[in-house]
Amino acid sequence: MPKLNSAAMIAQLHVSPTSFITDLRELHRQYLPIRQGKIYVSEPDLVEINPDWFGICIVTVDGQVYTVGDWEQPFLIQSISKVFAYGMALSDWGRDYVVSRVDVEPTGDAYNSLIKVEENSKRPYNPMVNTGAIAITNLIEGKGPAHRLNRLLDMYRRYVGHRVFVDTPSLVSEQTAGDRNWAIAYLLRNFGMISGDIKQTLDLYLQQCSVIINCHDLAVMGATLANNGINPMTGEQAIHSPYVKDLLSIMFTCGMYDFAGEWVYKVGFPAKSGVGGGIIGVVPGVMGIAVFSPPLDKRGNSIRGIKVCEELSRRFGLHIF
Ligand code: DON
Repeated sequence: MPKLNSAAMIAQLHVSPTSFITDLRELHRQYLPIRQGKIYVSEPDLVEINPDWFGICIVTVDGQVYTVGDWEQPFLIQSISKVFAYGMALSDWGRDYVVSRVDVEPTGDAYNSLIKVEENSKRPYNPMVNTGAIAITNLIEGKGPAHRLNRLLDMYRRYVGHRVFVDTPSLVSEQTAGDRNWAIAYLLRNFGMISGDIKQTLDLYLQQCSVIINCHDLAVMGATLANNGINPMTGEQAIHSPYVKDLLSIMFTCGMYDFAGEWVYKVGFPAKSGVGGGIIGVVPGVMGIAVFSPPLDKRGNSIRGIKVCEELSRRFGLHIF
């Protein structure tokens, strides 16, 4: 259950902790009855996903935890992984080289579109769409596929505070279904934007997407970014602090795909969604926000997740401007 005495957070949000948790419960009650949206499954009957799963978790930079609903329900991190893989590529190669491989411009296109790579730059527009994300995964260093995966899992561990694992059936299913990602990878190699073995890169990309977390884990990851890269629960440095602003900038401008402009306009804090139903939000210096609810809109963003973030931003003045 939530702890109600986070002085730093109250001071910054100008609310009492009691009214904050009451607000979270109210939002949960208000949006639970929503009956729209589509659930993402890479293969029919792979897992049973309940459209009513709905969790919210907030972790402050001083380690206070607020939870509502199905915050313990495990789900796939999916595209939210792209933020953290980007951080790894920056750590492995430095900013200049990474930006020379993958730009930092929003696309306004669907997450799995490849049209801009073919039409314009050859260099993917940003690391949050699949073209850029696959190019970023290709940059993750390691002596071989297992070493690369272990480095990736260890990176997640620093953010979450405990070990995380790949869900094998989900991975296998995504491996058999991802023609579009194969097309993207071949196109990128054709333009010299990735190198090496295509299957190894795609495997690692899908492994990074198939990691299982819950809402609490996701909120701690957000709080770590809000806290300059230091996990507020463990004190461990998850990423070199100067790179945190790179991750947050990209989340702010590109994290919600072709909804990114509207998101910034209405919600106004950095965020990233995944087709597993998760949304991570970061209020720098204050807290990480995680919402999990599987039904998605046509862009692949959690419908209840967007509603909760819009309302949190409105009620607590979280828009950065
Ligand atoms: O690349 C894919 O198709 C998925 N495994 C990840 C997609 C994803 O989460 C996109 N987000 N909304």
